[in-house]
Order: sequence, then structure tokens, then C-alpha cells
Amino acid sequence: MKKLIAVITLALMPLAGMASSGGTHLEKANIDLNNEAAIQRGAKMFVNYCMGCHSNKYVRYKLFTNVGLSEDDIKDNLMLGDGKIGDLMKIAMPEDDAAKWFGAPAPDLTLIARIRHGGADWIYSYLKGFYADPTRPMGVNNTVFPNVGMPHVLWQLQGVQQPVYKYEVQHDGHAVESFDAEPEAAAYAKEHGETYRVERVVEALEMTEAGTLTPAEYDQVARDLATYLAYVSEPVKLERQRMGVWVILFLVVFSVIAYMMKKEWWKDIH
Ligand code: HEC
Repeated sequence: MKKLIAVITLALMPLAGMASSGGTHLEKANIDLNNEAAIQRGAKMFVNYCMGCHSNKYVRYKLFTNVGLSEDDIKDNLMLGDGKIGDLMKIAMPEDDAAKWFGAPAPDLTLIARIRHGGADWIYSYLKGFYADPTRPMGVNNTVFPNVGMPHVLWQLQGVQQPVYKYEVQHDGHAVESFDAEPEAAAYAKEHGETYRVERVVEALEMTEAGTLTPAEYDQVARDLATYLAYVSEPVKLERQRMGVWVILFLVVFSVIAYMMKKEWWKDIH
């Protein structure tokens, strides 16, 4: 029996590993994929603010009948032209044009929540991470996507954020000291030798111009979009999780039965 428990534990270990994530600091989006209203709001935002440039071409509009919308709701609220409910969520703009205008193609976002490490948290942090940077072509930069080509399309809702920089002296890939002003950091680095370099990092963002939404309302918009993109990246996830519980229960019960059968069969042989 001990062996059996060990085997089951080992079999479940990859799941535990997958739950953790590392890398850059991301804000927690705390999305809830069971929240159909959030997915609906996110879909509406996506169609209105994002589909000028990004498609979701691996899903059909019809998908949203699974999250509580009727076909008429979908036609009235999510489909801008007159298409069919079974159409894929494609867009007219070729990716090449975006590459010309923004220096980078605007990728299809159907799977982005699965591609980006951190998933919904990454998207949430990205949508909150735009800040003014006059050196960039679009006038903005981003805390989780440095030198991004996308303009901050939601700036009227969020407002304008200015960066508060700090200057880190790095050595061997580690920050050894940090300063508020660049000259001090440069002096420190010079004193310590050639292998020390100064890196400008964004320490915080300060709202200098308010948007039409309050910060809490904007967070909600970012969370809705993150929920929506997490949903389209894997619409069967909820179903799979529900089913997974039954599969594991079955395996546990079956193991017990198999063990009892083994005992029964070998009883007379020993
Ligand atoms: C005006 C065109 C435009 C609009 C509108 C737009 N984007 Fe983008 N987006 C871009 C471009 C261009 C890139 C690629 C940036 C790069 O690679 O530097 C991008 C990149 C992204 C990425 C990162 C993709 C990756 O490679 O990881 C995400 C996520 C994203 N956009 C989300 C959104 C969301 C959500 C909206 C709507 C609120 C939106 N975008 C609206 C042009 C746009």
C-alpha cells in the first residue's frame, strides 16, 4: 500500500509544479473563469478596442453562446458588420500593415494567455503597465513588454502614467546598489570598475493625468479583458477541470479495487 501511495503522489507531482510560475514581477489578476459576466464584458471591450488590429481567428463568435449570450446578443453586441454567427473572429487589417505602422505585427490573440508566461496575470499587468516615454514612436513604453510597438489604446480610460525611474548599478547580472539620480549611479559604477554598469529601471508609475475611469474601474476593465483572453485561449478548460476531478476519483477507486483483487487472487498461492 505504501508503494501505491508513493506512485499516486509521484503521478500527481507535475500538476503541483505547473501551478507555480516564476520570472518577471506580475500583478495578480485574480480572474474567475466561472464569471460569465466578466467574459461577456471582456468580449465587448475586445471587439470595440482591440479588434481594429488583433484578431481572435481561432474561435467563432458562436462560442459565446456557452457563456450565457443568445445568438441575438452576439449579433447585436459583438458583431460590428453583418456576418454570420458561425464566422471566425477575423479582422480586415493584414498583419503586414501593422508591421509597417507599428514596427511590429499585431499578433492574433486567441492563444496569447497560453503563450505568455503568467497568462492572465501577464495580460492584466501589460494593460496596466503603459507609461509615457517620449523616446518611443508611440510615445509609450510598457513595464512588462519593454519597447512595445502597440500604442496605449485605453489611455483615455486609464489616464496617463509617468514613470519614476531609479538607477541600478549591476554586476554579474545582479543589482548591487540603486540610486535616485543617474550621476550618482554612474560615479559608483566608475569607482568599482568596468564590469559594473548602470541600468535605468522603472520603480513605480504615477498617474499624472486622470482618465475617464477611476483606477479601480480601470483595473476591472483590465481584469475583464484578461478573463476574456484566458477564456478564448482554452474554452474547454472549465469542463476539463470538472471532468478531471471525476477521472482522478475513478483512478483512486479503481486502484483500491485492483489492490483488493490482487489480494484475493494471491491469497491461496502464498
Ligand atoms: C492600433 C493597433 C492596436 C490596437 C487597437 C491594439 N493593439 Fe495590441 N498590439 C499591437 C501591436 C502592433 C502589437 C505588437 C507589439 C510589439 O510586438 O512590439 C500588440 C501587442 C499586443 C499584445 C502582446 C502580444 C505578444 O506578442 O505578446 C497584447 C497582449 C495586446 N497587444 C493586447 C491588446 C488588447 C487587449 C487590445 C485592446 C484593448 C489591443 N491590444 C489593441 C497593436 C494594437
